[in-house]
Amino acid sequence: MANASGFFSPPVPRMRRNIQPSIGIFRSGFCFSEGNFRRVVCSSGIEGAEKHVSPSESRLPKLVSKGCKLVGCGSAVPALSVSNDDLAKIVDTSDQWISVRTGIRNRRVISGKESLKNLAVQAARKALEMADFDPNDLDLILMCTSTPEDLFGAAPQVQRELGCRKTPLAYDITAACSGFVLGLVSAACHIRGGGFHNVLVIGADGISRLVDWTDRGTCILFGDAAGAVLVQACDAEEDGLLSFDLHSDGEGGRHLGVPINDNKTSDLLGSNGSVLDFPPKRSSYSCIQMNGQEVFRFAVRCVPQSIESALGKAGLVAASIDWLLLHQANQRIIDAVATRLEFPQEKVISNLANYGNTSAASIPLALDEAVRSGKVKPGHTIATAGFGAGLTWGSAIIRWG
Ligand code: COA
Repeated sequence: MANASGFFSPPVPRMRRNIQPSIGIFRSGFCFSEGNFRRVVCSSGIEGAEKHVSPSESRLPKLVSKGCKLVGCGSAVPALSVSNDDLAKIVDTSDQWISVRTGIRNRRVISGKESLKNLAVQAARKALEMADFDPNDLDLILMCTSTPEDLFGAAPQVQRELGCRKTPLAYDITAACSGFVLGLVSAACHIRGGGFHNVLVIGADGISRLVDWTDRGTCILFGDAAGAVLVQACDAEEDGLLSFDLHSDGEGGRHLGVPINDNKTSDLLGSNGSVLDFPPKRSSYSCIQMNGQEVFRFAVRCVPQSIESALGKAGLVAASIDWLLLHQANQRIIDAVATRLEFPQEKVISNLANYGNTSAASIPLALDEAVRSGKVKPGHTIATAGFGAGLTWGSAIIRWG
């Protein structure tokens, strides 16, 4: 099983893949055909009129088939490790109960001077280093997090810390434990349809800050971490996102959330003596509220369906996939999904025992450990799926490297 000390062994091959953005602005669209996106660039010029366009415009292709591939990964976890026995000192629980019901033994928790932003930056730097890629050549940073240290967004701060001189577009994606899969698919859409070339997708969460540490039903599950993947434009033949399948169901959202506290207003009197609901009081968020059994049922029902759908879109079957990498929420969920899809245990990636549920970070963290330990090799296919609050869930069939 992978662990934190496995991060740096064996040495990781360095791959220099630095794709320069094309010049100029163009209108484009994309369509799905026989498992591949074909990017169609629409020119407003007249057919055969190339000799009249400027040198930069003439370099624009008339028809581009574009793929995207995953070329680097990295991760970072806080220093403080909290074991099940540690938790048993603050809530009525035991190592045996937690490990049997969840598979979790330890989790990392942000403490002292650590910050989520710094974990994200560390993970990002490692991903860029693995790909031997200069942060100045990034043209998009997607920060998948539901726990930013600034509610208006963390991505621009990560961009600043990385020292990206060309100030690439950077924004947050808030989709809890599905965040990373949504970020990956968003990166692909930006590349295939938006002219972006080098996209850094970060999954990072500090859920420990939202946990009620007196609630044994939730505090045992979560930990903090960050993971990152560099996604680059490539030819369609090298495409590393073979298919995806995404869903949301607001109806089920009541089973897992962090709602805003229902603060009373100041009840000022209006000029006619009526009570005004103004000004609102400063609001705050509650701790995580969860119906564990409902979330469990949702995951074991919806995740296999989603992966089967994604496999079907890619024209693949589970037996032809090298690895199953699910959002790390509960080992019983992972086992149930693997059994349903007939994935043998040796093809299932799990590091849940060491980190618990790290929300948007769990998939890139587990991927990074699996790549650096030599388990996942270039060319391997992975069926990955995220699921959680919203409710949101989705899967992607990816090829590493
Ligand atoms: N230690 C000891 N006992 C505990 C406990 C703990 N940490 N948490 C709950 N219990 C008790 C309950 O109070 C209950 O006691 P009772 O029978 O006397 O009423 C008993 O254990 C069973 O509780 P239950 O909630 O039915 O347990 P469970 O088998 O459903 O496991 C979860 C609880 C939370 C581990 C499980 O439901 C789960 O993992 N769900 C998915 C949650 C998830 O993954 N969320 C994030 C998705 S992104």
